[in-house]
Amino acid sequence: MTTSLGRPVRYSAPGRINLIGEHTDYNFGFALPIALPERTVVTYLPTADDSLVVRSDREAHPVRFPLNTIPGAVTGWAAYVAGIVWALRSAGHHSPGGTMSISGGVETGSGLASSAALGCAALGALLTAAGHSVDPVEQAQIARRAENEYVGAPTGLLDQLAILLAEPRHAQLIDFHRLTARSVTFDPDAHGVALLLINSHATHRHAGGDYAARRASCERTAAALGVSSLREVQDRGVGVLAALADDEDRRRARHIITENQRVLDAARALHDSDFAEVGRLMTASHVSMRDDFEITTGHIDLIARTAVQAGALGARMTGGGFGGCVIALVDAAAEETVADAVRQSVRHAGYREPTVVRTHPGRGAGGQPA
Ligand code: GLA
Repeated sequence: MTTSLGRPVRYSAPGRINLIGEHTDYNFGFALPIALPERTVVTYLPTADDSLVVRSDREAHPVRFPLNTIPGAVTGWAAYVAGIVWALRSAGHHSPGGTMSISGGVETGSGLASSAALGCAALGALLTAAGHSVDPVEQAQIARRAENEYVGAPTGLLDQLAILLAEPRHAQLIDFHRLTARSVTFDPDAHGVALLLINSHATHRHAGGDYAARRASCERTAAALGVSSLREVQDRGVGVLAALADDEDRRRARHIITENQRVLDAARALHDSDFAEVGRLMTASHVSMRDDFEITTGHIDLIARTAVQAGALGARMTGGGFGGCVIALVDAAAEETVADAVRQSVRHAGYREPTVVRTHPGRGAGGQPA
């Protein structure tokens, strides 16, 4: 291990879009994410100091914290970096001090994993400066631990694995039980299809109670079925839920079991370049999130419904829920019609006009010349 003190390191990490497979990660199921082209960039100057100073182009004031920081000591945006230092040291790795400047390219609170992008970029910069080589799955676990135990958001591994494993023109089929991923070609542009990212600009927070309540419901159901996670009953199908006493818990678990199957079906459809089928599965996923898992909002439902009514192959909310973004798969020729219809109906309903952009799978986290 050689720490390169005084030599700047630049490292960046993208946001992510989950094509399908929501809230399946902490149930040890499947998901199919891509990386966004938008990235958070960290420029890090390592020194022998025993503290780290972080500044962000989105924040007025820098924050300094000691390298031996503990959960609770730093709150707010800087906690995402302090948490990384804490989790890195807890995993037995040395972390140098110094100064870190953050340029945030991923919108916060939009369901695009801006927190994980910041965490993974900071982690990559610290590891590079310290000369540590840590495989992506362990990096994801360190970054997730920072978010769970330092920041206090009970999230799964989706965002970090998506960000660390992403490749251009591909989605990753992640198996959260085996902690493996398989690249699946996802190049809609090559097939005359557009992936639209529709940002409602309604923000959410996953440190809040709704996300945790969904997780608790899934864990309660697993315990009631005598298994350690819902993944263990996946092969038995939704019939296994008939014995459950609580209707709400049953619907939550039904979302997880059906969603896992949709992820596997979508990966197969992508393999066959069957975008109509991928679209159908996306819409079915949205309905399941709306009716069974109940993590959408009227605003988000309006966007997804309008996109499909205007001719999209399919549309669904992406991310943890309660706001954020909708993705729509659209024949390239219908792109403008769908975008206009969505903007108009949202405006009519009195919500803020959404931003609609055509997007593509980007590359995963990595270093770049400083
Ligand atoms: C958030 C969490 C992830 C995952 C998704 C929902 O993005 O950070 O771990 O649970 O919500 O799929």
